[in-house]
Amino acid sequence: MEKNENLMEKLVSLCKRRGFVYQGSEIYGGLAGTWDYGPYGVALKNNIKNLWWQKFVTDREDMFGLDGAILMNGKVWEASGHVGGFADPMTECVKCHKRFRADQVGEKCPDCGGAFGPVRQFNMMFKTQIGAVEDSSATVYLRPETAQAIFVNFKNIVDSFHPKLPFGIAQIGKAFRNEITPRDFLFRVREFEQMEIEYFVKPDEWEKNFALLQEEIKDYFKQVGVTFSDISELEVPAEDRAHYSKRTIDFEFEYPFGRKELCGLAYRTDYDLSQHTGASGQDLRYFDEAGGEKFIPHVIEPSLGVDRVVLALLISAYTEDELGGEKRAYLKFNYQMAPIKVAVFPLLKNKPELVEKAKEIYLALKKEISSVAFDDNGNIGKRYRRQDEIGTPYCVTIDFDTLGENPELKDTVTIRDRDTGSQERVKVSELTQFFKDKN
Ligand code: ATP
Ligand code: GLY
Repeated sequence: MEKNENLMEKLVSLCKRRGFVYQGSEIYGGLAGTWDYGPYGVALKNNIKNLWWQKFVTDREDMFGLDGAILMNGKVWEASGHVGGFADPMTECVKCHKRFRADQVGEKCPDCGGAFGPVRQFNMMFKTQIGAVEDSSATVYLRPETAQAIFVNFKNIVDSFHPKLPFGIAQIGKAFRNEITPRDFLFRVREFEQMEIEYFVKPDEWEKNFALLQEEIKDYFKQVGVTFSDISELEVPAEDRAHYSKRTIDFEFEYPFGRKELCGLAYRTDYDLSQHTGASGQDLRYFDEAGGEKFIPHVIEPSLGVDRVVLALLISAYTEDELGGEKRAYLKFNYQMAPIKVAVFPLLKNKPELVEKAKEIYLALKKEISSVAFDDNGNIGKRYRRQDEIGTPYCVTIDFDTLGENPELKDTVTIRDRDTGSQERVKVSELTQFFKDKN
């Protein structure tokens, strides 16, 4: 069967059934553009974020982490240009009054065939009030990008750590956009997470650092396990770039609903720090000791949406095949991304001596390896299918031979491989190392 046929429906259904992603506020009929991550979804998302943090922050000496507040002084968004310009073109059907993004619809309403009214700019920032007084000075926005918390903390990081250029400040956090038409599952949502770096460079070194980060992003996607041949790089033409960008490359992914942006890499020049210097009156220049001069550094910004990476990974991992004469669907996550690495089973549920031994092995493994599951529900075939569906790479089964029925096999277990279904017998004493080697 063609993999892409109904793939999104299959994924949405698997994600709900198996506890990855639920519709936001589901029992009240949902809330458009919001999704809730269940236990395996959180684990998958954390694995994606942890790999990014490890690769771009902890493994490097030139990166500094940050966790800025979501609510910021409204002046930040005036200076950044978002109050004035963070808008999408919107049009409304004159017949059914549904609203659409003008650049994403044809001439007639896709719902009722009505004509569209004039196009106007719709600002995508969510507004709210802070404090008890409802005047304009109390207006704040839910941040539409995490980046601004980095720019307003630039001076703090420089003062605390005295980093040498080039260096980056990295942040993972929620961002909010009042998308006119949220759609395509996790792709276009109103509340999402971003993993962003503002990488500060000397103005004449931006091209070199842009190219380096471009390679690092590709390397990250390979490590995550997103189908690399489905990623392409688009040089964004000047008229489509954000107001602050002099060069942007979009990394696009072949989603079942079309080739769309997964991540952006932008050269933001000195736009943001200059804007904040002007608006705040603070000196945000960097003093370069070697050159003995002060200047505003330029910025390269890789911006990844966590939810779009989750979706691209789910799409990449989803596999249908036949195993032992039976059709199956499973998620082919690599070991590092899999929410559960190993599932431990007693061969039979109603044999206390098997269950006891399986529990003992499970608890010992759990101490050493994160994300181990115990499962004794249903027959062994059902357990394999369930673990395959959530992408567990290995299942360990404790049987009568483990207990010594065949003395030669005492204290050994079977390890079954998710992708091939093949099994090998391994000594219990060697189990932990077996899995540690997979990491
Ligand atoms: P698009 O053109 O698809 O609306 P964008 O150009 O507005 O995307 P950017 O402004 O470059 O996106 O945002 C940076 C990153 O944040 C994107 O590459 C994407 O991964 C993520 N992102 C942006 N908007 C959304 C959204 N509504 N839902 C999920 N992720 C998003
Ligand atoms: N920080 C880039 C963006 O969110 O568009």
